[in-house]
Amino acid sequence: MKLLSSGIKDIEEAAEALKAGKLAAFPTETVYGLGGDAFNPLALAKIFEVKQRPRFDPLIIHIASIEGLAPLVDFSQIDNTVREKLDALIDAFWPGPLTFVLPKKPEVPDLATSGLPTAAVRFPDHPVAQELIRLSTGAIAAPSANPFGYLSPTRAEHVASQLGDRVDYIIDGGPVRVGVESTVLDMSGVDVRMLRPGGLDRERIEACIGPVLLRTAAGHLPQSPGLLKSHYAPRTPLELYDHEDMMTLKNHPGEAYVFFDRQSSEYWLSKQPEHPAPLIYTLSPDGSLSAAAANLFSLLHTLDQSSLKAIHVERVPETGLGLAINDRLYKARAQAKSFEAE
Ligand code: TXA
Ligand code: MG
Repeated sequence: MKLLSSGIKDIEEAAEALKAGKLAAFPTETVYGLGGDAFNPLALAKIFEVKQRPRFDPLIIHIASIEGLAPLVDFSQIDNTVREKLDALIDAFWPGPLTFVLPKKPEVPDLATSGLPTAAVRFPDHPVAQELIRLSTGAIAAPSANPFGYLSPTRAEHVASQLGDRVDYIIDGGPVRVGVESTVLDMSGVDVRMLRPGGLDRERIEACIGPVLLRTAAGHLPQSPGLLKSHYAPRTPLELYDHEDMMTLKNHPGEAYVFFDRQSSEYWLSKQPEHPAPLIYTLSPDGSLSAAAANLFSLLHTLDQSSLKAIHVERVPETGLGLAINDRLYKARAQAKSFEAE
């Protein structure tokens, strides 16, 4: 693995590698992605292998301009009303943390879409990602650059420690801005459906196009494996609590307590004996959901490497980005449960 800077020479080197079918991890505003040429089945196969990702879990294709949609999407199959909504969302939020699932052109390889008739497409809002896509092939498939089911990387170090020599290049663009993955919106049918809450909140989407449906009809295969119950998970057992329940916890040595804001952590601390000193963390001292999202995976990465017996986390308010944060925490918890059962 070669670690690159985000200077132009280094981006050019990674772009050449992508053209030659190699993989490069790169920063986006949400999380780091593991990129490969979306039209090269060998590169796509390598992505699945490196991540140990099941083939039924399709990839997001990243583009660096709105024109980049044309080679990927069959616009003739989009419902007229949905098309108007798509244009409005593109106008308002692209580039940004919003992914569209749209009818695909036949040329898009099945490996990118897991054989589905739709493709997920995103125009990321990050200068390094945009430059890399532009200088390579214009369409880069990139899942989050972590082993399947594990915490998503928000720094180049996370990618290096999780994937190491399994990836050819890592471009270091520093810590990401948003911290949770993009919101995935299915716009391939007559209704607009949110398949995964993420970095663009539902309220802003609905203010732009009116109500959207949530997730899939019961009984269907998960259309977005980000919807699988366990995902985004640390190895250390993680438990999630409502504010009231969190306040009743007693401090146990070797366990970490993660609060939403300073108010919660200080109130809880005031009820603990002085010794032993608890391991306390806050996602955002002043209660900002966007700061909490930006810190979330990074804090969980650090705690997961601290040989703790357990991580106790307070749920955040369920508005704005809180929906995506609680979703990731819920899945982190489910995974911890399955580790306990082993
Ligand atoms: O923010 C992000 O979206 C990051 C950065 C790197 O852009 N990428 C990311 O990719 O989170 P990944 O592969 O970890 O998640 C992609 C999600 C999965 O839940 C996948 O199932 C869903 O998008 N997806 C992809 N194609 C789909 C399709 N055709 N239909 C439904 N869901 C799809
Ligand atoms: Mg992922």
